[in-house]
Amino acid sequence: MTASARAQRADDAIAVSGEFAFSKADFREIAKFVKDTSGIELSESKASLVYSRLAKRLRARGLKTFAEYRDTVANDDGERDRMLSALTTNVTKFYREIHHFEHLQKLFRGPLGDAAKRGERIRIWSAACSSGQEPYSVALSILSVIPDAPKLDIKILATDLSSDVVNHGRKGLYRAEELQDIPADVRKRWITPVVVDGENQFSVSETAKALITFRDLNLMERWPMQGPFQIIFCRNVVIYFDQPTQAKLWQRFATLLSPSGTLYIGHSERLSGPAVPQFRADGITTFQLLKGAAR
Ligand SMILES: C[S@@+](CC[C@H](N)C(=O)[O-])C[C@H]1O[C@@H](n2cnc3c(N)ncnc32)[C@H](O)[C@@H]1O
Repeated sequence: MTASARAQRADDAIAVSGEFAFSKADFREIAKFVKDTSGIELSESKASLVYSRLAKRLRARGLKTFAEYRDTVANDDGERDRMLSALTTNVTKFYREIHHFEHLQKLFRGPLGDAAKRGERIRIWSAACSSGQEPYSVALSILSVIPDAPKLDIKILATDLSSDVVNHGRKGLYRAEELQDIPADVRKRWITPVVVDGENQFSVSETAKALITFRDLNLMERWPMQGPFQIIFCRNVVIYFDQPTQAKLWQRFATLLSPSGTLYIGHSERLSGPAVPQFRADGITTFQLLKGAAR
């Protein structure tokens, strides 16, 4: 058998057996598309997961083959978003990695609070905010320290690749069991029970919502914001990207941070690449930009 025949046979090999034919070539093309559009790396060990999540999309769209699905995704941004949402994890919770919010409150009791009260502009970015629990935890942490924060020039930008989770965040509606990690006094003051479509839910107060702007944003694409940001949260997302992509992102964040600005990253993530010497550690997975390092 020739080398090209061998390669063809390997490509045709079934990656996962099921209702739809799913060859190794199908998997590789989907993995390449996902990597190119979102930075997310899918190893071959994820083939079953990719198959089961996308088989639902094929059924929903009435398609018969993965080749048809790839064509659909290439020509339909909505389906592209749904595919990326289906293949990414949106797991999050309020006050996840509580030490970051304690650190943030310390900043707002001190230099950032003082600057805001002097009328200075304070900008915070929750990059990859998922369904909003992270930016709301930021807003609630600030409000706990500065209850009249909405009257000051403090704004939180919350962005994610998936418009579904961004819309969820914008609505600010959560179920009772999702509120467990919000301190009781904060819950009492800024979270209100509501009934939505006959279901008991909880709404984040308009005061907290007023601090946040939700937007779709793919970290792999151009960022329209000029900065500077005093604070950037980018947690539990770069772990899905390869090393060069991670290093590039840390550098882009360094460039957008103000002198002495703070970057919070996820518990299993590490700074890497040219950004490393521009930061000093200031707590667990908390990094302060050395004054004016990147600008
Ligand atoms: C595990 S959640 C983390 C949410 C939150 N930061 C936290 O730590 O709880 C990862 C989020 O990253 C988003 N994401 C994945 N790739 C992205 C990209 N290229 N640009 C922006 N967001 C992305 C996903 O949609 C998902 O909501």
